[in-house]
Amino acid sequence: MAYETIEVRVEAEKVGVITLNRPKALNALNDQLMTELGQALKAFDADEAIGCIILTGSEKAFAAGADIPAMAKYSFVDAYKGDYITRNWETLRSIRKPVIAAVAGYALGGGCELAMMCDFIIAADNAKFGQPEIKLGVIPGAGGTQRLPRAVGKAKAMDMALTGRMMDAQEAERASLVSRVVPLDRLMEEALGAALTIAGYSQIANMAAKESVNRAFESGLSDGVMFERRLFHSLFATQDQKEGMDAFVNKRSAQFSNQ
Ligand code: HXC
Repeated sequence: MAYETIEVRVEAEKVGVITLNRPKALNALNDQLMTELGQALKAFDADEAIGCIILTGSEKAFAAGADIPAMAKYSFVDAYKGDYITRNWETLRSIRKPVIAAVAGYALGGGCELAMMCDFIIAADNAKFGQPEIKLGVIPGAGGTQRLPRAVGKAKAMDMALTGRMMDAQEAERASLVSRVVPLDRLMEEALGAALTIAGYSQIANMAAKESVNRAFESGLSDGVMFERRLFHSLFATQDQKEGMDAFVNKRSAQFSNQ
């Protein structure tokens, strides 16, 4: 499919890479971009060959937030009844394969929220995260006030949401917002390495792991542990479990069939 605001490619026949591509607006997230992003994500999710997806931007900006001029004139009725700003933001949450955010430069407002919707974030050392919506007279609208405190705790989340200050990559790693920080020129190599590792595993086990970790944020401990146990048990119905354990026992590398 031809896209105008994103670029899409496949690496090593098994990793889908989506690059946000509105450089003149620092990848500001307008309606067209979010629609195209959703389409590309769904296409990779449905593609049997793809085992992991990377979402990235440019060296200067992952995304500097929702497109401010595009939403500046909206009324409450436009925003609420038409759902014009947020209507296509939920697609990422429905993707079942792992999605890694590879973040360089600014990840602000909706850009930070988009990165947090991914399964984990690998950051370049020039990355800057923030929820500056307060400066515009609004608040985060795509999960920032909910996912940020879950990631970094209340103190830093309040600090960022109320002052609008940015957090650099080192602080983001200390605060557990990102899983790794690497030099800018190694960002894609690192993300691709992680994605290839994941894509080499059973897609079914990957989906189950993702579903189960996400469940930790939706349930109490006992319910979450029971959910995990049921998924764990169910994986013994897969050929990939037989293959993985047989490969270990026979000291060979596993070849998963995603069955
Ligand atoms: C539209 C944007 C933009 C945005 C930057 N640009 N951010 N356009 N929406 N969010 C545009 C600028 O207007 C400018 O275009 C060009 O990108 C380069 O930006 P500069 O400001 O000149 O660059 P710089 O001085 O390096 O500053 C970078 C920056 C700053 C710190 C990231 O641009 C900035 O503060 N941007 C806004 C960040 C923000 O408030 N984000 C939250 C948005 S609200 P021209 O044409 O002038 O060259 C939000 C709500 C989420 O995200 C709701 C989710 C549903």
